[in-house]
Amino acid sequence: MKTILFCNIMFALSFIACREKATDKVSNVDSDVHRPLYHFTPDSMWMNDPNGLVYHNGEYHLFYQYYPDSTVWGPMHWGHAVSRDLVSWEHLPIALYPDSLGYIFSGSCVIDRDNTAGFGANAMIAIFTHHNMEKEKDGNTDFQYQSLAWSGDNGRTFTKYQGNPVVKNPGIRDFRDPKVRWDTQRKQWVMVFAAYDKVLLYTSPDLKTWSMASSFGIEGDKRLWECPDLFPIKVEGRNETKWVLITSIQKEAPNGGTGTSYFVGEFDGKHFKADPSNQKWLDYGKDNYAFVTWSNLPDDRIIGIGWMSNWQYAQQVPTIRWRSAMTLPREVRLKKINGSYTLTSVPDSRLFDAFEAGVATAIQSDHPVEIPKTCLIDIKWVPEDGDENISMTNSKGDTLVIGCLVNERKIYIDRSEAGDSTFSRDFAGKHFGVLPQWQDTLRLQLFLDVASIELFANNGECSMTEIFFPAEPLNLLSFGRKNQNISINFRAFKNKKGQPG
Ligand code: FRU
Repeated sequence: MKTILFCNIMFALSFIACREKATDKVSNVDSDVHRPLYHFTPDSMWMNDPNGLVYHNGEYHLFYQYYPDSTVWGPMHWGHAVSRDLVSWEHLPIALYPDSLGYIFSGSCVIDRDNTAGFGANAMIAIFTHHNMEKEKDGNTDFQYQSLAWSGDNGRTFTKYQGNPVVKNPGIRDFRDPKVRWDTQRKQWVMVFAAYDKVLLYTSPDLKTWSMASSFGIEGDKRLWECPDLFPIKVEGRNETKWVLITSIQKEAPNGGTGTSYFVGEFDGKHFKADPSNQKWLDYGKDNYAFVTWSNLPDDRIIGIGWMSNWQYAQQVPTIRWRSAMTLPREVRLKKINGSYTLTSVPDSRLFDAFEAGVATAIQSDHPVEIPKTCLIDIKWVPEDGDENISMTNSKGDTLVIGCLVNERKIYIDRSEAGDSTFSRDFAGKHFGVLPQWQDTLRLQLFLDVASIELFANNGECSMTEIFFPAEPLNLLSFGRKNQNISINFRAFKNKKGQPG
């Protein structure tokens, strides 16, 4: 039922999209009030999930779900951008267009070093879902299937494989978002993709012929899964490697709506084994969905990026010429905390270097201090009791509150009064994050970028990503309670010329 609803909504929205197209042209006023400075946004029109993340010849490729004709979801393409440092991005022409097999839904890219597929050594190969609207309208259930396209010129042009699809649909309405990796130990390709309320794992010697290996899900849980990822990761400070399965969930994330979750376990070449009841959250904020990682990175680090929105309101947010940004690229690490594996995430180190050095300032509750509209705020705080918070405001009174509930060992972001929230009743609210361990000094790193905040507590042991829409940037910060123990360091974002933004 939910899947039917999802597809119907998607279809209805592509219809609405045609209507929006006309309005885009007239309502172009103030379109960039909420445009971030250091988060990736499409040049114009609609964007959702990151796709095809791959590092190749010095470039980080970011493909993404893109509809170039409207600011709401519609027939999906793969948009394309590249970066050399994960800080600044260059927009490139659309990489994949819909074709007779369908729209181009989410997927991944690999570099075929040994030419297993026969498209040439080091070909860049995109593995994505074709979504066939005609088949769906005709009442079929097998309208999503996995296909290939390849590029021999660093992703600038792609050729669709003649033998598509490479994974046919056995009759499962939600059958999408393949993430492929080379399994070095078993010398095989492994594909993980979402099949309604679980993931399926397939293996292949050549990316063209695939066999089903196994499935993984939570018994009795019927929420829709999307955009999975599966990778090995070393446990920090231990001689141990685990496998992590990331999966985005379309409903009932910790603070409502969509969110990215993960499981930690083992992979034997066919099966992913983990305790299905031990589902954890990569980010507790409302706006980090479809988080996936880059393939073919030059070192052992694992870096990923998410879509900074939530399907509850993504198509209604009050940006006009474009919709949605990505989160910052983040390095994920696995730590064992109090006997339990926890995936931490912090922005890639090059993002920290993109800010001025800054100076530590002691904050008093009755003296708000001015902050740059795009900055990194680094706070060391010894919370004493009850509810302690800092707030950021502007001259219009829009206020974003970041706080912690000491007794409950929770942190929160309250965006109830942070600007326009009239577009959706699911938007305004106070959202909570849970720290896996409590330390007397709480270190918060807050990346503020005009209309979003990414919060990292204690080196990313808990993170929260939230968007908001103030009438003008929040430029005053104050501390909600007199406390000698708060020290804040503001670091302005350097613009392209190296000057503070
Ligand atoms: C997730 C998702 C994917 C799908 C894509 C369509 O946000 O629903 O499952 O491939 O978006 O744009």
